[in-house]
Amino acid sequence: MPPLLEVDELTVGFATEAGTLVAVDRVSFALDAGETLGLVGESGCGKSAICLAALGLLPPNGRILGGRVLLDGRDLVAMPEADLDKVRGGTAAMIFQDPLTSLNPVHSLGWQIGEALRLHRGLAGAAADAEAVRLLDRVGITDPKRRLREYPHQLSGGMNQRAMIAMALACKPRLLVADEPTTALDVIIQAQIIDLLVEIQREEGLALLLVTHDLGVVAEMADRVAVMYAGRMIETATSADLFGRHRHPYTSGLLASLPRVDQRVKRLAPIDGTVPWLGDLPSGCTFRPRCPRVLASCAEIVPVLAPEAASHRIACHNPVPA
Ligand SMILES: Nc1ncnc2c1ncn2[C@@H]1O[C@H](COP(=O)(O)OP(=O)(O)O)[C@@H](O)[C@H]1O
Ligand SMILES: [Mg+2]
Repeated sequence: MPPLLEVDELTVGFATEAGTLVAVDRVSFALDAGETLGLVGESGCGKSAICLAALGLLPPNGRILGGRVLLDGRDLVAMPEADLDKVRGGTAAMIFQDPLTSLNPVHSLGWQIGEALRLHRGLAGAAADAEAVRLLDRVGITDPKRRLREYPHQLSGGMNQRAMIAMALACKPRLLVADEPTTALDVIIQAQIIDLLVEIQREEGLALLLVTHDLGVVAEMADRVAVMYAGRMIETATSADLFGRHRHPYTSGLLASLPRVDQRVKRLAPIDGTVPWLGDLPSGCTFRPRCPRVLASCAEIVPVLAPEAASHRIACHNPVPA
């Protein structure tokens, strides 16, 4: 059995005035039913570009420059748009940081969920209404019958996020791509949405590609983690290995900037410097200008993602000692 989602050497570029910027550079991973892969890294590292490319949803100036995306064994990169819609709609769904990018302000929730049910599951009339009520109830929206008649602007941020999850579930996906699903929400609502996602994933056996810059969320939810830096995957491991035995200095930096609830004083040690501009990447390892363990060779040789153990790979010439 092939994995549900297989991303193989995916390279994504954006056409800009400064030329084509490579936002995702030969990234590979696989994801199976019931599994959660956490994709982490600072803002601008290519996490969203991976998600959008994997579902064929790149903006007009974005293009897959190389590699393959196999959903259920079928290559989405080579697929005509019409087939893509069908495969995507019936297999995968995406939820975004800002629910209003996928909820339409001019239609009621009931209309929108109804439309998804009609398109992807052929439901209409009373059957669609009943299923829409069930879905809203499932995502914890109280009084779902009344809510169906409401518009996104009438709901709170947390409610809209729940509604977007309901919309995503309406097409009975087997793969859910969640791009910073809780970033815009306050802490208590964040925790509720995460709990909801965990619950739904377990119940439905969904494959979940979870993008977040919150390592706490990843620790709680992900089976495996992939760390991105300036478009490249620089470390990937099981959650246990990544949190317990990470080797890449960038991963160390990310973890050091994680506030710890078990420490009375929250110590935040963000990594010095910023992610480089894609139009002017340093030679060799792109993290080297910020790296506390930099060697002379780091400027010359691009480190490749090499196996450290069966499920642990790192791209670094001078990793943190095991
Ligand atoms: N439509 C676009 N046009 C040009 N550059 C883009 C576009 N979308 C994203 N980028 C650039 O691609 C890189 C990766 O972006 P993104 O995938 O959104 O990062 P992340 O989700 O990790 O914050 C960034 O440098 C960003 O500025
Ligand atoms: Mg993003």
